[in-house]
Amino acid sequence: MTGSTAATPIGIHDLAITTTHYVVELDDLANAYGTDPAKFRLGLGQDQFSFPAPDEDIVTMAAAAAKQIIDRNGSQGLRTVIFATESGVDQSKAAAVPVQRLLGLPHEVRVVEMKQACYAGTAALQSALGIVSRNPGERVLVITSDVARYQLDSPGEPTQGAGAVAMLVSADPALLAIEPAAGVYTADIDDFWRPNDSTTAVVDGKLSMSAYLDAMAGAWDDLQAQGGPAIDDIDRVLYHQPFTKMAKKAQAHLAKLTGAALDLALPGDTADENARDTGLATGTLYNRRLGNSYTASLFAGLAALLHHDSDLAGKRVALFSYGSGSVSEVLTGVVQPGYFDADASARFSAVLDARETITIEAYRKLHATERASAEDYVNEVVSKAPFRFTGVSAQARQYESA
Ligand code: COA
Repeated sequence: MTGSTAATPIGIHDLAITTTHYVVELDDLANAYGTDPAKFRLGLGQDQFSFPAPDEDIVTMAAAAAKQIIDRNGSQGLRTVIFATESGVDQSKAAAVPVQRLLGLPHEVRVVEMKQACYAGTAALQSALGIVSRNPGERVLVITSDVARYQLDSPGEPTQGAGAVAMLVSADPALLAIEPAAGVYTADIDDFWRPNDSTTAVVDGKLSMSAYLDAMAGAWDDLQAQGGPAIDDIDRVLYHQPFTKMAKKAQAHLAKLTGAALDLALPGDTADENARDTGLATGTLYNRRLGNSYTASLFAGLAALLHHDSDLAGKRVALFSYGSGSVSEVLTGVVQPGYFDADASARFSAVLDARETITIEAYRKLHATERASAEDYVNEVVSKAPFRFTGVSAQARQYESA
């Protein structure tokens, strides 16, 4: 293996996930738009997508996810917060700054925002690993939080969604020790981007799917060149999930690249007895209800796997990240003994179940609401989350604890 072989394992010590107040049922969307519901459920592998109330955004979701981490672990040794997002709310100020205040973190903390479409969470994780390698007594809070928005009536609309995953990166991690070798691949391609004055992404959907597969192949080849594990030495494989059927396409591509027989069944499909179960279906359980959560999507897959599979201790997991534009990275980690929290899946399922179903008419109205940056306003109280985006005053976004 190349890279430093740190004596002390470093990786993800704790992980927490959250989402929005509203949920859009894709059956409702299909009925309203005259589309066969099977296209969304089977064709895209999606049942629902999360949608923010006016008093929610990436900051409120991020703070709510990170609060769980701080409540469980305290803030001792925490000197860095890295916030990865595609849907940043300011061109200058990092979304991690209000999170520092909302969580009551010490002022002696460096905070920053990272961007590269859906990939940035993996870059944030790698940066955190580097910081902890240099100072093993420090811990880094990595937050991935996004609201995926496409234009109404566009093909991308059913693949919207929202969610946040916060992770505490430390030495001697309790969940996943990340291994030193990683495979990376960058190619300048216009498959998806968001101009500065647009709240929705511009996307060439079909190009983004082929670019994703090409980039993951490049990252996989680079992992092998860097001395990373062969496919037979990897027990579970997780993918970035813009929609869960994309993970199945990625798994089929990996099987073709490596010649390995990997099971392609999503939930509801019949498993192939002659193929290896690498956790594809398990890793999609949350994303098919969240929709796309951009930077958080891959880590929502990790949450689903760790919450549902009690037999992972000592097993190696590969994580394939992809961000349009495009950057891909594959890294691997070993699940640590004692990682399994038997209540975690019920806890997050309750959060998903508690979302309020929004009618298609109300959703379309909210989606179409665009605020000019010069406009001041106060948001009505809708969300029951621990933090709220209360409005804009003197052009500055205001946040407070509920
Ligand atoms: N029953 C079951 N499946 C159906 C169906 C039906 N009635 N109608 C269509 N489908 C299937 C299609 O066969 C297709 O599956 P396949 O890709 O396995 O062949 C799938 O549903 C999607 O249909 P398609 O017509 O290709 O969808 P679309 O043109 O409406 O757009 C995306 C799909 C993903 C391109 C679009 O949602 C998009 O642009 N999303 C945003 C970008 C994105 O997520 N990119 C991913 C890489 S980052």
